[in-house]
Amino acid sequence: MSYTERLPRTRTYLMCPPEHFTVEYAINPWMDTAVPVDAALAVKQWELLRTTLADLGHAVHVLDPRPGLPDMVYAANGAFSVDGTVYGARFRFPQRASEADAHRAFYQDGLAGDWRFAAPEHVNEGEGDFAYLPGAYGGLVLAGYGFRTDPAAHAEAQEVLGRPVVSLKLVDPAFYHLDTALAALDDRNVTYYPGAFSPAAQRVLTQLFPDAVLADRADAEAFGLNLVSDGRHVILNTEATAMADKVRAAGYVPVPVELTELKRGGGSVKCAVAELRG
Ligand code: ARG
Repeated sequence: MSYTERLPRTRTYLMCPPEHFTVEYAINPWMDTAVPVDAALAVKQWELLRTTLADLGHAVHVLDPRPGLPDMVYAANGAFSVDGTVYGARFRFPQRASEADAHRAFYQDGLAGDWRFAAPEHVNEGEGDFAYLPGAYGGLVLAGYGFRTDPAAHAEAQEVLGRPVVSLKLVDPAFYHLDTALAALDDRNVTYYPGAFSPAAQRVLTQLFPDAVLADRADAEAFGLNLVSDGRHVILNTEATAMADKVRAAGYVPVPVELTELKRGGGSVKCAVAELRG
């Protein structure tokens, strides 16, 4: 099979260093409070992810970590932006609630551009459960629910962003956020693990994305779908070797990064990287 060349588009990202990273509570099946995390190693691995993105030519803003917010490294959960509008997050669990304020302050201080910030009424965990495909159907939002984000937030996001929002039901607790089960590979195509979705949501995805790259449970468990792509380079967890082969076969360039420590909190590349769409 031959593909047209996959072209990268320069992005702006937001990351937050895991200086205060621990697993001191368990709000997803990956978190085990009995296994200690190596915070120094987590920072080292995070730093390599940051430089990998920067070396690919992307702008990376850094959010100051706050003590007492061990999950703040998962910056993707703090908000969801489309064309200069930011739909703020509202976390499901109290342990993470004030992360939303830190993200809101980042957008409102104006250092990373001018944003229109919309405070949410409904529970939603930012890019954890929202993905945007600017080139699909004129600009399409995919939204997950079932574990974290309230489906009422999907309608709220549609009102705030003025883009169609497609609700997808997640059914497997191991893949509790949309970004553990599905990722945008470029402006119009996605990769996903069908088994993480309800049968109806699987039909919707088949209809919308007939050319999607399909992943299996092992790919998802290796956090291979928790990837960041610039349209050409697909940055993903080193453990996800089979997934790297799949994206390579589809014409993309896999860029593996080691993130063993962040996996202990139930996240990987995508969770640690929010995209700022100005
Ligand atoms: N420990 C965090 C939580 O359970 C991990 C968040 C992962 N982030 C993500 N975008 N999937 O909330």
